[in-house]
Amino acid sequence: MKVLGLCGSPRKNGNTETALRVALDTLKDKGIETEIILLAEKKVEYCDHCGNCLEGKQCPKDDDAKEIFERMQLADGIIVASPVYYTAVPAQLKALFDRSIMIRKKLAGKVGGAIAVGQVRNGGQEIVCEQIHQWMITHEMFIVPIRFGGIVLGSMKDLSAAKRDEVGLNSCRALANKMAETLLRR
Ligand SMILES: Cc1cc2nc3c(=O)[nH]c(=O)nc-3n(C[C@H](O)[C@H](O)[C@H](O)COP(=O)(O)O)c2cc1C
Repeated sequence: MKVLGLCGSPRKNGNTETALRVALDTLKDKGIETEIILLAEKKVEYCDHCGNCLEGKQCPKDDDAKEIFERMQLADGIIVASPVYYTAVPAQLKALFDRSIMIRKKLAGKVGGAIAVGQVRNGGQEIVCEQIHQWMITHEMFIVPIRFGGIVLGSMKDLSAAKRDEVGLNSCRALANKMAETLLRR
């Protein structure tokens, strides 16, 4: 049993990564194997709708998207953690979501969860969780049955702010516990 955590923040060692690591540590405590991908370390270009993948041909873009999608396919569960950028996922993560057209039907049945980190308490985290959930539903994944998921308070200037948001981090632990429960019941 394995859960892949994808950190969609373009910033390394930031608040989104903190929140995701708390969720992954909770899963590890339940005996579930975890791994993390930091989108900040990857290069993912935009989908320009060339149509190749729709005809069963290789995506012509030579970047890290294929490797990320291979690792997603090997996982039983996927947690996507994202910062809030203007009440939405950042462009880097949206680019990855769009490129996932090349793996249509290949994530079906996996269990998914979302974490969102914003500078203010009601800065759009619920909307970002919803965007992540909609991407997962489009891939026919099962969403962890918990309302919204991890909702965390970060900061533009303070990379450690999330570490002090005990309420937010507890929501990440709750999400992870629910994901473990869902996976272990299978
Ligand atoms: C371009 C940009 C737009 C942002 N828009 C929002 C927003 O709409 N709502 C919010 O709560 N925070 C917003 N923020 C703040 C980030 O969500 C916050 O700094 C978060 O901690 C970033 O995650 P990170 O620490 O992992 O980099 C924005 C930050 C940037 C850089």
